[in-house]
Amino acid sequence: MPILGLGTWRSEPGEVAQAVRAAIEIGYRHIDCAWIYGNEPEIGQTINALIKDGIVTREELWITSKLWNDCHAPEDVRGAIEISLRQLQLDYLDLYLVHWPVCVRKGVYVPKKMSDYREVHVPAEKTWQAMESLQSEGLTRHIGVSNFSKTKLLDLLPKAKIRPEINQIESHPYLQQTDLFDFCQEQNIGITAYAPLGSRGRPDRLKEADEPILLEDPTILQIAESLGVLPAQVLISWAIHRNCSVIPKSTNPGRLKQNFGAASLSLSAADMEAIAKLDLHRRYINGETWTLNGSPYTLNSIWDEN
Ligand code: A2P
Repeated sequence: MPILGLGTWRSEPGEVAQAVRAAIEIGYRHIDCAWIYGNEPEIGQTINALIKDGIVTREELWITSKLWNDCHAPEDVRGAIEISLRQLQLDYLDLYLVHWPVCVRKGVYVPKKMSDYREVHVPAEKTWQAMESLQSEGLTRHIGVSNFSKTKLLDLLPKAKIRPEINQIESHPYLQQTDLFDFCQEQNIGITAYAPLGSRGRPDRLKEADEPILLEDPTILQIAESLGVLPAQVLISWAIHRNCSVIPKSTNPGRLKQNFGAASLSLSAADMEAIAKLDLHRRYINGETWTLNGSPYTLNSIWDEN
């Protein structure tokens, strides 16, 4: 898996095509997608055009997509990947992830009322068995999960015939998730860090007025200045130095280039130590979307932190 990928959450239809094209021309080979992002058709058209024009081959690309929360019932999983494959105009994915350990009723994007949740939570192992079949059938080369806690992985692993290869989680200096990192490393589960720049582009309803802004952190600014690079590059490089893949989102060609350039940056042990001290255990994507309006889920039942 190429260690640096392009995040596409909040890359709007209408701008995502030029972003993916620019990214691939710059050298990105890993595109992180999801059905729920609503932009897979445009990403598919772009990738397909670039392959046809000989700019890149399918084999050179790593394309990830994710199973939405309304398709956790085993009988819905195959249909869900088939839609993503059709939209992306691909015969296979490189990686397919269970997007969240949360289930909603078929046809629900984001729950707004109690009846939007499923009456009975689909146990992760049931969904996982269907994910395993997708890999066996060749619809995806690899399978994994996203937003899974250590507790949820510990529960799933003994029941899995094929182990999840990746856990995609929010991670950046304010949410270092050291325990989960160590556990995944021990278990040989790779980590992909999402929101590595602190996700300033997320919807306003998910923001707090006085939240700390990662890209303005004084330590990050100081390291960036000492190296003559940009704060975003320090953040991306930090993730890479922790041996995880990282998927900064941008639709701006200049920033796409800056972010890609971070792969060749070297941080010193002192820089890494200084950044290690910044952990605030602070989620920017805190899961509240799943806990409103009589939800069967709580933040604790999602993250297993208390
Ligand atoms: P844009 O798409 O206009 O470049 P994250 O990956 O943590 O979710 O962060 C994505 C947000 O950070 C987007 O709002 C994106 O805006 C912005 N961003 C991406 N690259 C950079 C960069 N190099 N410097 C500053 N902001 C960036």
